[in-house]
Amino acid sequence: MKGIILAGGRATRLRPLTKITSKQLLPVYNKPMIFYPLETLLKAGIKDILIIISPEYAGHFLNLLGSGKEFGAKFTFEIQEEPRGLPDAFIVGEQFIGRDNVTMILGDNIFDDDFSSQIKGFHSGGHVFAKEVADPQRYGVIEFDANNKVTSIIEKPTHPKSNFAMVGIYILDKRASHFAKQCKPSARGELEIPDLINFYKEAGELTVSTIKGIWEDAGTFDSLLRANLYWAKKNKANL
Ligand code: DAU
Repeated sequence: MKGIILAGGRATRLRPLTKITSKQLLPVYNKPMIFYPLETLLKAGIKDILIIISPEYAGHFLNLLGSGKEFGAKFTFEIQEEPRGLPDAFIVGEQFIGRDNVTMILGDNIFDDDFSSQIKGFHSGGHVFAKEVADPQRYGVIEFDANNKVTSIIEKPTHPKSNFAMVGIYILDKRASHFAKQCKPSARGELEIPDLINFYKEAGELTVSTIKGIWEDAGTFDSLLRANLYWAKKNKANL
C-alpha cells in the first residue's frame, strides 16, 4: 500500500493567510496542518508517500518534510501545476502508484480515527469513508443502505440525499489512475472525486465505512479554528 497526500490548490478561501504560504503549512495547534494527514498514513503503516504540491511553495514543503527519513518513511514530491481536481492526484501520481494499491488523503483533512484495519485489510476495489454532518451540501454526499451498499455519491448537491459526507481519505486499487483519466471536467472545470469513485461503484467493487472520531476539513476560517481548539484540548488532556 502506497500513500498520497494531496496538498496543492490555491486556498483562496483562506486569504490573506494563504498569500504567503500554503494552507497545508498553516499551524493547527502545535504543528503544521500537513503533519495530521501524514501521521494518519504513518499510523496505518504506510511508509512510501507521494506529496503533491503546487509550484508556489514547493520549497517550503521540502524544507519542512525532507526525504522522510526523520519520519521513518520515504517521501516523493510531485508538482501539480494547476488545481485540476482531486482525481488528478492519481494522474500526477501514476508512475509512483505503479501496480500497487494506494490510499489518498487530502492535505487539509484532519482525522482522529485510526484507519489501520481498513488499510491493512484492503485487497482490491475501492473503500471510502462517511461521516454524518450538519451541512452535507458542502461536501461530496454519499448515500448507502442498511447493508452499507452505496447507492449514490454526488459532489456538493443542492438537495443532499443523505447527511453523510464522503470524507477526504480514499483507499483504491491500482486502477485509480486508469479511471481518473476517464473522468471529465465538471461545470466548474475540475475533475470530481465522486466521478472516479463511481467507476468502482459501477463495477460493484465499492465499500464504505463510517468514521467515529472528530473530522475537520480545515479549509475555512471556522473549521481551521475548530481544528486548532480541538487539538489543543486533546494535547493538554494527554499531558
Ligand atoms: O473534505 C472532504 C471534501 O473534499 C469531500 O467531501 C469532497 O467530495 C471533495 O471534493 C473535497 O471538497 P473540497 O471543496 O474541500 O475540495 P477542495 O477544492 O478544497 O480540495 C481539497 C484539498 O485538496 C485542498 O487541501 C486542496 C487540495 N487540492 C484540491 C484540488 C481541487 C489539490 O491539491 N489539487 C486540486 O486540484
